[in-house]
Amino acid sequence: STQGIGYANGKIILMGEHSVVYGEPSVAIPFPATQIKTTVQAAEGETTIECLFYKGLLNDMPELLESLKAVIQVSLDRLGQNESLSINIDSTIPAERGMGSSAAVAVATTRGIYDFYKQALSHEELLEIVDISEKIAHGNPSGLDALMTSSSTPYYYIKGQPVTPIELRLAAVLVVADTGKTGQTKEAVASIGEKIRGKNKALYQRKITELGRLAKDSKDYLSHNQPEQLGLAMNQAQNLLSELGVSSLELDALVVSALSHNALGAKLTGGGRGGCMIALARNLNEAQEIATALEEAGAKATWLYEMSGD
Ligand code: PMV
Repeated sequence: STQGIGYANGKIILMGEHSVVYGEPSVAIPFPATQIKTTVQAAEGETTIECLFYKGLLNDMPELLESLKAVIQVSLDRLGQNESLSINIDSTIPAERGMGSSAAVAVATTRGIYDFYKQALSHEELLEIVDISEKIAHGNPSGLDALMTSSSTPYYYIKGQPVTPIELRLAAVLVVADTGKTGQTKEAVASIGEKIRGKNKALYQRKITELGRLAKDSKDYLSHNQPEQLGLAMNQAQNLLSELGVSSLELDALVVSALSHNALGAKLTGGGRGGCMIALARNLNEAQEIATALEEAGAKATWLYEMSGD
């Protein structure tokens, strides 16, 4: 019998989390699928779902997986199909760590279903379908996760503007470390909102603007191979994010550990208050030393992403 297959990768926000909400630029990179990915198999059979959180009939799926149900239904509707499909989801992207796991599941599921019916799927249509499920999962998605988990190039992203791919010419290694704690994106976004509207609003607005400037500069550091400058910008961003109240004791401890083991820079990534942090290393050897130090400092998992300049 036939089978459809769909993949998606994870994502890392290099610069601009939170400030992107206020119209400032951001820089995000797809995390290579050789490291972590979501794979979805769609096959003929009873309409069932099998994933980390659930195994059973589509119709009995818990509320929590409503967004996944929407992706499947919208895809089948668009294809004019109402046949039953068994969907098997296998994901090594850690959930709720700011690495784009929910968007990746939606991307891979859509691709798997279209592949099953041997139908072409444009990137535009894919993003439309995933946006429906991300709206259910997160309320007001910026669209950055859907874009990044379905792309293979870094992007410069400003809310509401056409996206620009970035030419990645940086020769450095990115170390990603998971605090093991669930990220608190929604709460973190809301708490910055209160600061921005509060009595010190001018002070906090300046920090947001500064984060945007760092993201803008970082785009050039990536395409001009300037790892030292990027590292400094990451450190400045971490200080600003911390002053905005979205770091955490665990994230701070990992940042300190990375910097004391020769990282060029280190910061939280994504919503913060948990989730993951990133550190920039000159080369693979130094990156491995940093990863070991981070695990000793409490990281539950680490990944290396070797970027090769040209
Ligand atoms: O935690 P993540 O990976 O979903 O990233 C959130 C990024 C924010 O800028 C904090 C929020 C947003 O909607 O862009």
